[in-house]
Amino acid sequence: MAKQFDVVVIGAGPGGYIAAIRAAQLGMTVACIDAWRTADGKPAPGGTCTNVGCIPSKALLQSSEHFEQVNHHFADHGIKVKGVDLDLQTLVGRKDQVVKQNNEGILYLFKKNKVTFFNGIGSFSAYVDGGWNIKVSGPAEEDLVAKHVIVATGSSPRALPGLAFDEKKILSNDGALSLTSVPKKLGVIGAGVIGLELGSVWRRLGAEVTVLEAMPDFLPAADQQVAKEALKAFTKQGLKIVTGVKIGEIKASGKTVKVPYTDSSGAEQSIEVDNLIVSIGRVPHTEGLGVETVGLKLDERGFVAVDDDCKTNLPNVWAVGDVVRGPMLAHKAEEEGVAVAERIAGQFGHVNFGTIPNVIYTSPEIAWVGRTEQQLKTEGVDYKAGSFPFMANGRARALGDTTGFVKVLADAKTDEVLGVHIVGPMASELIAEAVTIMEFRGAAEDIARICHAHPTLSESMKEAALAVDKRTLNF
Ligand code: FAD
Ligand code: NAI
Repeated sequence: MAKQFDVVVIGAGPGGYIAAIRAAQLGMTVACIDAWRTADGKPAPGGTCTNVGCIPSKALLQSSEHFEQVNHHFADHGIKVKGVDLDLQTLVGRKDQVVKQNNEGILYLFKKNKVTFFNGIGSFSAYVDGGWNIKVSGPAEEDLVAKHVIVATGSSPRALPGLAFDEKKILSNDGALSLTSVPKKLGVIGAGVIGLELGSVWRRLGAEVTVLEAMPDFLPAADQQVAKEALKAFTKQGLKIVTGVKIGEIKASGKTVKVPYTDSSGAEQSIEVDNLIVSIGRVPHTEGLGVETVGLKLDERGFVAVDDDCKTNLPNVWAVGDVVRGPMLAHKAEEEGVAVAERIAGQFGHVNFGTIPNVIYTSPEIAWVGRTEQQLKTEGVDYKAGSFPFMANGRARALGDTTGFVKVLADAKTDEVLGVHIVGPMASELIAEAVTIMEFRGAAEDIARICHAHPTLSESMKEAALAVDKRTLNF
């Protein structure tokens, strides 16, 4: 006898598990199916984000930053440390523990919210009498029937044509988070978010890192003033970033990987590295879902096709997160998951794509929300800009981390904040204030009139807002 649910969610990444919890909070009977398992066969809900994405990368970024600090910056504070050793096994083991705590946390949340969890592959089998038949294939086979289905099956790393990931020499994010020794030379293809974050991790731990990027500009989606400042800082740290390249035929035989490429001047170049991270974007994951069985429509790039409300072409079938259009970010997936659960319950869930923050957790951190200066120029928007450097911020000086600045862009007539761009310490935390202001459609003057604690990095946000009106107090 098939088990009946109001909602079955396929995928327990940030899109799926949050949708399941919200639907259960709203009084529906909910099941969530997820295929991820640990090497020793235990269920590992949390998706890419928890297992091989946001969480483990931030754990490694933190540990490697400590290593960088003790080796290169403690002496500035008068702390002399001799004989610093790297125990990579413990460092990576700690990351694995952080992941495990998050997996267990999600299982606890499912219990707490009465979400029934199935560890296995979920696939559509039929639509009968207004209900979706979903098969779970895993350690225990199950047949479920759902009034509503939320597809949250996420994404997978994109490989270069003809160069499969072996996770030993040719690494996706998965292998790049679990190396057992620090490579002497590491190559990275793609200077996007993964390339910069994981390239930074292994550089800090001692690798000589070269990042090869196809686009002529560095971080074209970021504000170009921010991108320039970040590139300067990364280069100073020893991260070699080459833009405008065309990658040739990669040879991964023997001990090293040879990467030939044509540089922006047209000259033939090549690097020989111990390991190569390929981080050239991700592709939607719909394998095993039974898309053809029920005629779930995909778009030309393989994403599940959805409307603005995350509705698919099938009745009562919704899709959220990386498997649908829009930025591949955990918080975007979560917002969509909540909104869909609320729509199923007859409420008016909403996701504001204009206020989704972007963060790159390098050092300096990069964070932004809203439009860049180049976008405003292209769109012909009349705007004012105000910037404030961390060099002039007391807290940043005390921290010993004065790289970068905050920039506020506001409408020239109404003063409404249109974009905020930060490169510098704790940008990931500072951006939340800008998101709040923009969500309330506030003005630069609103930020400027808010009392900010002293001494904090957040005073730089207030000063940048004052600079929009040409009246900074501390610069
Ligand atoms: P996923 O997290 O991919 O989850 C999908 C789940 O569905 C998986 O568990 C999968 O096993 C399961 N599944 C798939 N098909 C089936 C099926 N048929 N049956 C059952 N289960 C199935 N984003 C940020 O916002 N901040 C960050 O700092 C950040 N860092 C990242 C670092 C790295 C290295 C990577 C790779 C990504 C990072 N991201 C980050 C992106 C973030 O991980 C994704 O945007 C997010 O995980 C998407 O969530 P999702 O729920 O859509 O899909
Ligand atoms: P990305 O889209 O951020 O960057 C890929 C880069 O590879 C681009 O700069 C692109 O121009 C380049 N590229 C593509 N093909 C190439 C080729 N053949 N040769 C050389 N360069 C090439 O993708 P990435 O870094 O793989 O990350 C995937 C997704 O994961 C991103 O969309 C991001 O949203 C998410 N993510 C988010 C993080 C965060 O929020 N902090 C951290 C890590 C990942």
